[in-house]
Amino acid sequence: MDDEVRTRNESAPKQATGHEARADGVDRRSLLRMVSAAGALAAPALAAPTLAPGRAAAEEVPRPVPGIVKPLPAEWFVPRGTNAEMRWDAFRDADGESVIGRHVPVERFFVRNHTSTPLVDPDTWSLKLFGSGLRGAPTVQDPVEFGLDDLRELPSTRISALIECAGNGRSYFLSQQNQPVPGTPWTLGGVGSASWRGVRLAEVLRAAGLTGAAVDVLPTGLDPDYVAGGTNYGPVRRPLPIAKALDDVLLAYEMNGEPLTPDHGAPARLVVPGWVGIASIKWVGSIEVADRPLYSPWNTDFYRMFGPDYPTGGGEPLANQVVKCAFELAAGAQLGAGREHRLYGRSWSGTAAVRRVEVSTDGGRTWRSAEPYGGSHADDWTRWSVDWRPERPGRYELRARATDRRGNTQPEREPFNREGYLFGAVVAHPVTVV
Ligand code: MTE
Repeated sequence: MDDEVRTRNESAPKQATGHEARADGVDRRSLLRMVSAAGALAAPALAAPTLAPGRAAAEEVPRPVPGIVKPLPAEWFVPRGTNAEMRWDAFRDADGESVIGRHVPVERFFVRNHTSTPLVDPDTWSLKLFGSGLRGAPTVQDPVEFGLDDLRELPSTRISALIECAGNGRSYFLSQQNQPVPGTPWTLGGVGSASWRGVRLAEVLRAAGLTGAAVDVLPTGLDPDYVAGGTNYGPVRRPLPIAKALDDVLLAYEMNGEPLTPDHGAPARLVVPGWVGIASIKWVGSIEVADRPLYSPWNTDFYRMFGPDYPTGGGEPLANQVVKCAFELAAGAQLGAGREHRLYGRSWSGTAAVRRVEVSTDGGRTWRSAEPYGGSHADDWTRWSVDWRPERPGRYELRARATDRRGNTQPEREPFNREGYLFGAVVAHPVTVV
């Protein structure tokens, strides 16, 4: 047992709560002017999805999500509004062999878009930095600019990191706790691990003239404005405290060894290890660096905990992800009775490497340790397996429960929050033994 036990968010740098700032803290009109001049083309026409070879005709109707460019074969993805959820049963082929190693291939990686994937021309794109936290306080009209070639000339770094939506697992609020919540009803496939290459955000900020007065940075995406319920919230943008920005944030231009693809943020995106996915702004066009706290709807109205257990106006802006587990198995999978099965899964935490994974095959009455393989990584998931020989046919509930090196573990029940963020409770995985 570690002597230092932390609960979630304790390791996160302090963020502005902004109860006073519901509206944008930035000059919206300037920002919009800048975005439209930044080289983003109109949202793409729907790409005709290609069919995976060798699939039966009846299954060959892909269900593309409007606004996502890459093909979304039904055996890899579940479409969810403007998003595509990765299927956990796609980690193994029909013989149970692993088809996904430590990192999820780009074509199988989940997509979370507030609106639609923009096609940004890498040749005319530049990252524009401005604000009171930079030397000389460059303005939005006259920013410090870096083209893709400039970024590639700065020292590069490669990291492994998970991107996970804050709403991953949201559907279990209803199905396990009878608590309806709005928003995308993700099961557990709003997460993926990849290898990212790029330049540390700290490096870019310093090259742009970072001063000691900087407090917050605000990266803004080049995707179309997010409009919901008749309100135009403007382009997707979410402030980061300078301490996190200087710590481990990457401005990535490669994913799994290849240039970023349109759906995952080309030509450059942020990768904010351990934090809710919204922090990892895709298609980043500008970064404001300010000597005061910054606000956008994404740290005031959204991505905070609201509900009876939280302060009026919401809890702190969300930061670290919680501990989770998933089986590489379909919900409702059929397994043969009287045979040995090797069950595979993965566990992860936004705070520290996973230390222990326990599995129950009897609905949570008894637990035993799963066998980890492939190493345990702080910013990545831990893969594991457990053997199970169910003797009698019937319906069973599998459960997996992980604990990280900080002692964070998964509760039986997740305290309710109105938007259904950060569901970290143990998930019941039904299977039928035949
Ligand atoms: N950045 C922009 N510009 N627009 C978006 O809609 N979605 C965010 C984040 N960055 C988003 C964005 C959310 S909520 C998540 S979970 C991740 O991107 C998803 O990254 P992915 O689509 O590459 O998996």
